[in-house]
Amino acid sequence: MVLQKKRVVIVTGGVGGLGLAITNKFVQHGDIVCLLDLSQEKLDSTVAGLGENVKGYVCDVTKEASVQQTITAILDEHQRIDVLVNNAGLQYRAKIEDFPLEKWQLLIDVMLTGVFLMTKHVFPEMKSKRFGRIINISSVHGEMATPEKVAYVAAKHGVIGVTSVSAIEAAPYGITVNSVLPGPVKTPLLVKQLDDLYEIEGLSEQEALSRIVYPKQAMNRFIEDTEVADTVFFLASEEASAITMEHIKVAGGM
Ligand SMILES: NC(=O)c1ccc[n+]([C@@H]2O[C@H](COP(=O)([O-])OP(=O)(O)OC[C@H]3O[C@@H](n4cnc5c(N)ncnc54)[C@H](O)[C@@H]3O)[C@@H](O)[C@H]2O)c1
Repeated sequence: MVLQKKRVVIVTGGVGGLGLAITNKFVQHGDIVCLLDLSQEKLDSTVAGLGENVKGYVCDVTKEASVQQTITAILDEHQRIDVLVNNAGLQYRAKIEDFPLEKWQLLIDVMLTGVFLMTKHVFPEMKSKRFGRIINISSVHGEMATPEKVAYVAAKHGVIGVTSVSAIEAAPYGITVNSVLPGPVKTPLLVKQLDDLYEIEGLSEQEALSRIVYPKQAMNRFIEDTEVADTVFFLASEEASAITMEHIKVAGGM
């Protein structure tokens, strides 16, 4: 199937740093973007500056009923979903023995169960029209570990597994499913971790960088949110139609 010129794209966690960069990339191309996030207020203020092709939906990706209602609302309005970007996420850091069960469950629910639920409920529409692109935002932590991030690392490794199973099941229907594994991008999620290190542990930015951001990156720099968005956009393009079940790092050589 030839790609629709104006695609219907869903971005979860759409008002966050990477979500917004990904949204901007699709909007610049003339696509219709449905932003899913938790706060109506933030969705309203984000959507206000983005033009008529962007609409916000309050959706908690951890709740199946919320996911189902949102997908139904998008299909009622647009009759199809071409691209799903599973991007919602959050971070919490603590040593394993101090890691609260509620935080473990929250991170796993948002970043792993959320990817499963969104995929589960867009698959029927994508399969019926025999076209779709799903891009799951994992992390370099999908293939590596750093201390005090047990839930994040577990969820992001899990995303790789969900991506691979989804890709196999989707392949006969013309749907591709891939993961993108960003390195450190200066979004609210990362800035909060850096701020904690400056304030609580008195580290300089450079010390915080080498401690929490990854000491072994060849390029030794932050990744731009647009660099991640460009890769997501490529994976959704016609040129990427033979690429599926790949887990692609955008991490400056890690
Ligand atoms: N920033 C980085 O350095 C980095 C690196 C690798 C991977 N990532 C991944 O990129 C994705 C986006 O992260 P970001 O840095 O833009 O973070 P961010 O905090 O700026 O944005 C995350 C968004 O997800 C939303 N969200 C959280 N729980 C949700 C839920 N239950 N339902 C719907 N939305 C929910 C938040 O409200 C927020 O808008 C995450 O999956 C993150 O793990 C980020």
